[in-house]
Parts: sequence; structure tokens; C-alpha cells
Amino acid sequence: TGTPMIAPSILSADFANLAAEARAVAGPGPGRADWLHVDVMDAHFVPNLTLGLPVVESLLKATDIPIDCHLMIEQPGRWAPPYAEAGAHNVTFHAEATDDPVAVARDIRAAGAKAGLSIKPGTPLEPYLDIVRDFDTLLIMSVEPGFGGQKFIPEVLAKARAIRKVIDAEDLTLLVEIDGGINADTIEQAAAAGIDCFVAGSAVYGAQDPGEAVHALREQAAA
Ligand code: DX5
Ligand code: ZN
Repeated sequence: TGTPMIAPSILSADFANLAAEARAVAGPGPGRADWLHVDVMDAHFVPNLTLGLPVVESLLKATDIPIDCHLMIEQPGRWAPPYAEAGAHNVTFHAEATDDPVAVARDIRAAGAKAGLSIKPGTPLEPYLDIVRDFDTLLIMSVEPGFGGQKFIPEVLAKARAIRKVIDAEDLTLLVEIDGGINADTIEQAAAAGIDCFVAGSAVYGAQDPGEAVHALREQAAA
């Protein structure tokens, strides 16, 4: 793990002012986010509906922060590649949503983006250990996907420690990302478990100054 990466989730931002909300974490200096995390939900894979490709295309024009798409949707094989074609930096989909995650990753990479695999809090890591080489990121959910502002589930950190061991032993380039309930009270334990990239929604966009929140979280994760 190098310098901790912070990915503010615009799920907690004002959806009527997305360009300004992206700008709030895109300034120069230490309050600049590493990625902008965009939660795509389809009201089928999760019990919530957010936004889709047209909004991501507009966000790509509105900011130079790399866009980290988190697809909480059914049929990622059908819907994921267009996000990569549009110019998203990462396209992450859920292991639980497909029988052939490697094929989806191949299509995402062929379309020009990094491929991410996400697992829900109750999904074990072991069945996916031999396919992590086909991915650029592993997104470990630390809340049930669907909503911001939920309580961090510390038990998922066992999966972070396990994948960190594999990455170090085999010298993999896989980045480990965590999503859900990350804030000033929880980020240190996640950092200690070997996380590279921290998604934070309410902790960033619920703060008075989102850029300052990014800076403070990154410092805390590095400590
Ligand atoms: C939840 C989303 C998260 C969410 C995190 O399904 O994947 O990205 O925005 O929000 P917080 O940081 O408030 O838990
Ligand atoms: Zn997310």
C-alpha cells in the first residue's frame, strides 16, 4: 500500500448540483480526491435506484477526477462495458450478479477501463481468489449495498487482511478498496487491515468542507 487513496461517493452529494459537488473535491492541493465514486443502482440488485450512463457521461465532462463506477446492478455483462467506453477509470460490478465475472472483466478491460470485482459483506473471498488476477481492484463492501450513511461492519476486514497477504506474497498489482461506513472512527482499522482506497460518502459530503474531509481522512489512513 502506498499513499492512501480517497474516493468520495457522490451518492451523499446533491444530485441537482453534481458538477459543483465534484468540484468540491477536485481542487488542487491535499483536499483533492483520488477517484470520484459513482454508485449505479438498478432497483433490482439493490432496493434503491440512483443514476445511470447518461449521468456518468455528464460527470466525465464536468470533472478531471477519475471516475470510479460501482455498479450495483443485475446483468453486469450487458451493462458494464458502456461505462468503460464512456471513459470511466474503473468499472466495478458485483460477483453475486454474474456467473462469469472473468468474462465481464475482460470486456471492461477491452473497452479501456480498469476492472473491479465487488463482494457484499456476507460473500466469502475464497471462491474468487483464483480470479483476482483478472481484476485491477477488489471492492470489499463494509455495509449492505444500497444506501449511504450505514454503520461499518468490522467483520469484513478479515477479507481485507486475507487478500493483502495474497497480494504481498504474489506481488500482485490489485488495489483493495473498501466501501460503506468509512469515517474518522473507522478508517484507521480499515487502513490497518491493508486497504488501498477508501470510499466515503456521508463522511465527505456531510462535512462542512468536503475537500478538507478528504484531506483529513487521507491523513488519518496514513497515520
Ligand atoms: C452503498 C454505496 C456506498 C455509499 C457509501 O451501497 O456503495 O458507496 O455511498 O456511503 P457511506 O460512506 O455514507 O457509508
Ligand atoms: Zn459504492
